[in-house]
Amino acid sequence: MRQKLLRDGAQELSYEIREIVKKARILEKYGTQIYWENIGDPIQKNAKIPIWIKDIVVDLSKDDRTYGYCDSKGVLETREFLASRTNELGGTHISANDILFFNGLGDAISTLYNYLEPTSRVIGPSPAYSTHSSAEAANASNSPLTYRLDPDNHWYPDMEDLRNKVQYNPNVVAILIINPDNPTGMVYPKEILDEIVQLAKEFNLFLISDEIYNQITYNGARAYALSEIIDDVPGIAMKGISKELPWPGARCGWIECYNRGKDEQFDRLCKTLDDAKMIEVCSTTLPQLAIPKILGDPRYEEYRNELNLKTGERSRFISETLEEIPELTFNPTYGAFYNTIVFKEGALNHQQILPIYNRDVEALVEEWVDGVSLDTRFVYYLLASTGICVVPISSFCSDLLGFRITLLEEDEALLKHTFNTLRDSIRNYLDS
Ligand SMILES: Cc1ncc(COP(=O)(O)O)c(C=O)c1O
Repeated sequence: MRQKLLRDGAQELSYEIREIVKKARILEKYGTQIYWENIGDPIQKNAKIPIWIKDIVVDLSKDDRTYGYCDSKGVLETREFLASRTNELGGTHISANDILFFNGLGDAISTLYNYLEPTSRVIGPSPAYSTHSSAEAANASNSPLTYRLDPDNHWYPDMEDLRNKVQYNPNVVAILIINPDNPTGMVYPKEILDEIVQLAKEFNLFLISDEIYNQITYNGARAYALSEIIDDVPGIAMKGISKELPWPGARCGWIECYNRGKDEQFDRLCKTLDDAKMIEVCSTTLPQLAIPKILGDPRYEEYRNELNLKTGERSRFISETLEEIPELTFNPTYGAFYNTIVFKEGALNHQQILPIYNRDVEALVEEWVDGVSLDTRFVYYLLASTGICVVPISSFCSDLLGFRITLLEEDEALLKHTFNTLRDSIRNYLDS
């Protein structure tokens, strides 16, 4: 090419959650049955959408309005409905104008970082959810900037690490929290959130809170929304229906901007996001029309509670199955539907293997593991030996070695089979 095509940040774009699928697809061709534990899609894991929700969508499909564009910011009645839902929490107050719809939160995340000054950095948790860390790092043409979540302290943020990084890096303009967290399943305690708000005040930062799992808590936990604790700090909450409803295929999420009036630059950032969406025209109309009808239905709360109870039960089964392995650091989870399981230091080495009965597959895996991190090695052997497809934690911007699983499998027999096999394979791998 006449000129360089890509900017340096492009190499920061990686999404192992989907990359591993390419390897699994190759194994499928050799006849391996894959157990998809890599992606947080409840539908793929046999979730059934209740008929009353389907009926709402069917009725909408009979209304011509569904087929048109909507306001650039999103359907007004839906934004009003969502604003009053946030206002009911009693924290900061918003109007429909503070809400902006996107085609899924993935769209919101990449748009937000894309418009930040490249030298202005957002610090986020590690292990990091790559949609945030990759998009932020790509914009900054730098590696992701992270604070440590501590596996030896319930995966809570290491506040000293966060404070030091904020204090000594003047480029930090915002702190990202993902609450409940992907990939750890941790729910931020209120005291820690209050501390983060104080830190933002002290250093004149804004806050970003990804709350896509806000309604997904269990085992006695409750996730505080940013609007409840933010006080007068500028902030953006990111919300959506991909996980909560669940309806990931709708590609529908939104942001709520808090305290826009408190900082002129922050207000301009929110306006820029509005303008960026205007250039695209608008986001998907049908799911927006469905939101007040579904979330406002008296059956919704009971339905969501039932799903949370079931996720809690699965989390306890997985704890019982895996927490006894002494070489693992295992934390029970309280929110979202993932668990990140860490191998203790020294548990993994480059000689460990699992039995693979097909010679061609064995040769393939030997090629794949050449030069990869120790947890990726385990993940590839697990995939080829058992078909269980998990994601290595080193791919979540972390120096820890481990893997992420989901708590989503609705089919009880399959859940038991998957996690009993996983436990036995970990044991065999460590002893090999
Ligand atoms: C923390 C977090 N934020 C955002 C997303 C993306 O959601 P959406 O389907 O709305 O793009 C995900 C998806 O897994 C997620 O885990």
